[in-house]
Amino acid sequence: MTNIVIIGAQWGDEGKGKIVDLMSEKADVVVRFQGGNNAGHTLVVNGITYKLSLLPSGIVRGKLSVVGNGVVVDPWALREEIGRICALGTEVTPDVLKISDQATLILPLHRELDQMSEAAAGKGKIGTTGRGIGPAYQDKVARRAIRVGDLAEKETLSGKVDNLLLFHNALRKGWGQPEIKKEDVMAQLEEISGFILPFAVPAWKILSQQLKQGKKLLFEGAQATMLDNDFGTYPFVTSSNTIAGQAAVGSGVGMKEIDKVIGVVKAYTTRVGSGPFPTELFDADADRIREVGHEFGTVTGRPRRCGWFDAVLVRQAIVVNGVENLAVMKLDVLDQFDEIKVCVGYEYKGRKLDYYPMQMNAQAEVKPIYETLPGWKTSTYGVRDYEKLPENAKKYIERLETLLEVKIGMISTSPEREDTVIRIDPYEK
Ligand code: GDP
Ligand code: IMO
Ligand code: MG
Repeated sequence: MTNIVIIGAQWGDEGKGKIVDLMSEKADVVVRFQGGNNAGHTLVVNGITYKLSLLPSGIVRGKLSVVGNGVVVDPWALREEIGRICALGTEVTPDVLKISDQATLILPLHRELDQMSEAAAGKGKIGTTGRGIGPAYQDKVARRAIRVGDLAEKETLSGKVDNLLLFHNALRKGWGQPEIKKEDVMAQLEEISGFILPFAVPAWKILSQQLKQGKKLLFEGAQATMLDNDFGTYPFVTSSNTIAGQAAVGSGVGMKEIDKVIGVVKAYTTRVGSGPFPTELFDADADRIREVGHEFGTVTGRPRRCGWFDAVLVRQAIVVNGVENLAVMKLDVLDQFDEIKVCVGYEYKGRKLDYYPMQMNAQAEVKPIYETLPGWKTSTYGVRDYEKLPENAKKYIERLETLLEVKIGMISTSPEREDTVIRIDPYEK
């Protein structure tokens, strides 16, 4: 029995979806434990591309798919996503998809508030996905959120909506925005209840039954360590904890059940939205990475910021997640570079740093110290066997292992599920 957590170790879009899909062949249940439809996980299976935002990636193989209590659920967006995925031939029924009745709902007012506060912040904006993620988590922590299972208890729902609007309308008034009418929110909830309630279950209980039956759980992280609300580049982060420890909290599975953590990184670095990024490039190398790697956001279509691999940040991510092995994705994107740089430390105010400081100015001002490695100038696209990689590509991988003090167990060389070098199978070791 092996229960594994997959997390992003950079700023997101590392290729978590591909790894979860690949590994879900051997898993029985795939579980989302934080975030919401700010995630965009891409799977390519036999030439068909699936873009998932809230649905766990195991859905494509028909695996039991659980959306845990730690997730924020926009039921309208979910309905749209299910429609899209079903059109590709995947079945999404309450038999296969279970949504925690304790998960927080994202309502249209959250989406509006997300977009309003970003517009008000002007240059200081976070660059959120505009999906209402932050406002929904704020309401959760402030104890006024409406949760999925609340829709089933009509007699208390009205009071909950009153309480929610007491806050939101006061806020909106201050911002010169029109009040939200209670009857409109009640009508929205009434309309969506019939869709979402058939999926609502005490997910912790289902997961406990699965564990008792010896089933293997695969936890699918969204966002990434540098977007974590505590360990990321705060305030330019998302509103949830994205690190592996959240897998237990966000699903109701005891932490002793979790056996292994796999970190996912790109062979370089990208980021969408605002915030510091020490190894960011602004030259032709950035354009090349963006073009070859198709670095445009899955959710918002925004061009991603691109830069070299930052071993300092990833080393930090390995520690706070307890990463056992890494998956390095998109190695093929570096195929045509003469030289490849890796950040091995920072310089700040004349001092050398071996970690990323937490202060905002320091984060923005550290200068990367680079090590330069020779490129391989050969296509690795679609390579599935480590020995078939060019010598310099192997040297790059092995140098990363030394710098990060962790084994690289998987290397991905194309978007396709099977185009992956597996050096360490997480289910075998
Ligand atoms: P996630 O959010 O971590 O699941 O990652 P995304 O799906 O947002 O972004 C990763 C992108 O890279 C997707 O378009 C994948 O299809 C693509 N991808 C994943 N692995 C590889 C790879 O090894 N090579 C190439 N060229 N593309 C890849
Ligand atoms: P996956 O799971 C990359 C970023 C946004 C913004 C910040 C806060 O596909 O890797 P939010 O809408 O969460 O309040 O936005 O976080 N962000 C992501 N960046 N990949 C993601 O998810 C992201 N989810 C949120 O761009 O900078
Ligand atoms: Mg993504």
